Amino acid sequence: MLQLGVNIDHVATLRQARYKTPVRGDQPEPDPVAAAREVEAAGAHGITVHLREDRRHIHDRDVFLLRKTIRTRLNLEMADVPEIVAIAEKLRPDEVCLVPEKRAEVTTEGGLNVAGKSLPRTIARLKKAGILVSLFIDPDPTQIRAAAASGAQFIELHTGGYSRDPRQLKKLIAAAELAHRLGLRVNAGHGLNYQNTPGILAVPHLETLNTGHAIICRAVFVGLRQAVREMLALMRP
Ligand code: PXP
Repeated sequence: MLQLGVNIDHVATLRQARYKTPVRGDQPEPDPVAAAREVEAAGAHGITVHLREDRRHIHDRDVFLLRKTIRTRLNLEMADVPEIVAIAEKLRPDEVCLVPEKRAEVTTEGGLNVAGKSLPRTIARLKKAGILVSLFIDPDPTQIRAAAASGAQFIELHTGGYSRDPRQLKKLIAAAELAHRLGLRVNAGHGLNYQNTPGILAVPHLETLNTGHAIICRAVFVGLRQAVREMLALMRP
């Protein structure tokens, strides 16, 4: 059964919009930890957060509290940089998704270049800590072959291209087939919404869709539980 990981970064984005530098007496809200409880109550299968180097939304406090409180799976998106790798080893999320990170971007833009020098060492360190490792990559055969050689167990196929041009679905299907043949497990995410998620069900071997922006936007109008339930309903063929 296809699973849903809900990215709750934007809940923290909203908190930071008001409470970037909290002063005494502030009770910063909304709390992503409370949002995770709602997401789980609605039946989602996991919580995804991106601890960025600049801490623009999710903070260290959030990830450590989530680790203690959630009952589903914790997927930590992160860049391959020493500070965050050390945090991941301490945190021990169920899964890490390694992503490229640029300070100037609004959200993760492209997939990872798996040929990066420190990647195999980082993957080995994370696996040694008992963490499943996923690589966020474009549906590109060269990257998929490199991912298969890297030691990572999963790839997360970048669906941003598909979200802008549904004709790219063919690329995702071919990429998932190749990844599966090479022994990789396959997730997907980025730019998925209530319109384009049904189309993604044509991609074989998918285990988890990681979706954030569309669900948090819908939640503004119908509440988080309902927004998650509606997305889950769309994921059932
Ligand atoms: N997967 C990865 C690796 C991401 O970086 C993001 C965005 O943080 C998502 C999934 C979720 O994308 P969206 O917010 O567009 O649903």
